Amino acid sequence: MKYCILMGSPRETGNTASLLKPFIEELGACGSEYDLISLYNKNISPCIACRVCQADWTKFGCRFVDDAQEIFDKILESDIVVLATPIYSWYCTPPMKSLLDRLVYGMNKFYGDEKGPSLWAGRKLALVTTCGYRPEKGSDLFEAGMERYCKHSQLIYAGMLAERDQGYGHSFMNKEKEKRARQFVRKLENNM
Ligand SMILES: Cc1cc2nc3c(=O)[nH]c(=O)nc-3n(C[C@H](O)[C@H](O)[C@H](O)COP(=O)(O)O)c2cc1C
Repeated sequence: MKYCILMGSPRETGNTASLLKPFIEELGACGSEYDLISLYNKNISPCIACRVCQADWTKFGCRFVDDAQEIFDKILESDIVVLATPIYSWYCTPPMKSLLDRLVYGMNKFYGDEKGPSLWAGRKLALVTTCGYRPEKGSDLFEAGMERYCKHSQLIYAGMLAERDQGYGHSFMNKEKEKRARQFVRKLENNM
C-alpha cells in the first residue's frame, strides 16, 4: 500500500511529529510505502475561486504555479491520504486548509457548466490529530468536516487517530499513545 502523509504541524519535533513516528515505523513493519510532505515547507496559495481548474477534466489545471501541483501528483500515486495536523481553532492548520480548498476544486470537476469526475475517487483518507482538549471536544469538528469532505469528493473515510496534549510541562508521548498509533496503522492495513 502507498500512503501520502501530509504533515500540517509547524513544529518539526512537536506532538504531531512524535505521534507520526510510531505510525511511520509501523507502516515500515507492514511493508507499506509512504511519501511524507511537510506542508509548512511548501508554498501553497489559497484558492481564489477562479474556476480555471474546471476547464480540463484530465488534470489539476490550477492557475497558480506553486507546490500544490506536486502534492496533487503524489496523492494520485497513493492509495491512502493521511492528514496529520494539530488542531488549531477546531480545525487543521492554515497550509492544510489552503491545500484542502485547492484540492476540493482541482480534484473534483464539479463546478463547471457540466458536472465532471472526481479525479481521486475511491482513494482512502485518514486523520492523525493532536489537540489540547479531549479528542471528543478538540478533534470532533475537524473529523465531521472531513467526513463530509470525503463524501463530497467520493473518497472513503478511513478513521481518525486523535491524541490529547495535556499542556506545557507534560511530556506528550507515552506507551499508550505509541500503541494506539501502531494499532491505527494495523486497522488501516486490514481495511485496505
Ligand atoms: C494557535 C493554536 C490553536 C489551538 N487551537 C486548539 C483548539 O481549537 N482545540 C484544541 O483542542 N487544541 C488547540 N490547540 C492545542 C494544539 O492542538 C495541541 O497543543 C497540539 O498537540 C500541538 O501539536 P504540535 O506540537 O504538533 O504543534 C491549539 C494550539 C495552538 C498553538
